[in-house]
Amino acid sequence: MDDIAIGRIDVHSHLLPGIDDGCQTLEESLACARMLVEAGYTHSFCTPHIWPNLPDNNTSVITERVAKLQRELDEAAIPLRLFPGGEINLRPDTADLSAEDVVTYGMCRRHVLFDLWAEKIPAFFEPAVKHLQSMGLTTILAHPERMRAVQDDPGLADYFAEMGILMQGNLQCLGDPPTTQTRQVAEQFLAEDRYFMLGSDLHNLKSLPLRLKGLRRAIEAVGEDKVRQLTWDHPKQLLPLAKS
Ligand SMILES: [Fe+2]
Repeated sequence: MDDIAIGRIDVHSHLLPGIDDGCQTLEESLACARMLVEAGYTHSFCTPHIWPNLPDNNTSVITERVAKLQRELDEAAIPLRLFPGGEINLRPDTADLSAEDVVTYGMCRRHVLFDLWAEKIPAFFEPAVKHLQSMGLTTILAHPERMRAVQDDPGLADYFAEMGILMQGNLQCLGDPPTTQTRQVAEQFLAEDRYFMLGSDLHNLKSLPLRLKGLRRAIEAVGEDKVRQLTWDHPKQLLPLAKS
């Protein structure tokens, strides 16, 4: 599978079966992978939640689980190349993490994806992010459009940019009804070229069509060239051995 030509790269997915609140069975993972391939994806990072109550979601177990799912994909002749990763829930104790415990894209220790659920930006935000950055990591905030703090004040995008934080938008938010704040903020950030990349954040087969509808909606809104940059060119920088 190493010689697979690069197409779209999914940068945020809960494709690994039975490891978090994402796909629950191997069959569901395979069905989602098929649907991704049909939508033009050739590569996907598996980014399970990194939560305190999921202690097995660490660098070694995720890497093993990705290799196992890759073997299943290969056996099923589904041309999708997987890489390990994780979605770190930013918490006060993130500032205590040692470098070897930080789950990064491709486990390459270059880029890290984190999420935060907050009505206001908490006091621990800056120390936690700066701790990750002190390890030489590029920090990427998952789906800011889903955060209440950002919905109330989209201007926080400037604050994130000043801190050197990149933003990853969720495709599903672009497929949400037009009146929702998730869609409005996502469309604003897309139009203002605020996003570094877009990811599916797929969790199951049922919601994947809506997420892929968001991909088509993004193309309608800003054009294929821009969406290619956000789902293909920029994500290439996350790949192991990538020459961006
Ligand atoms: Fe996620």
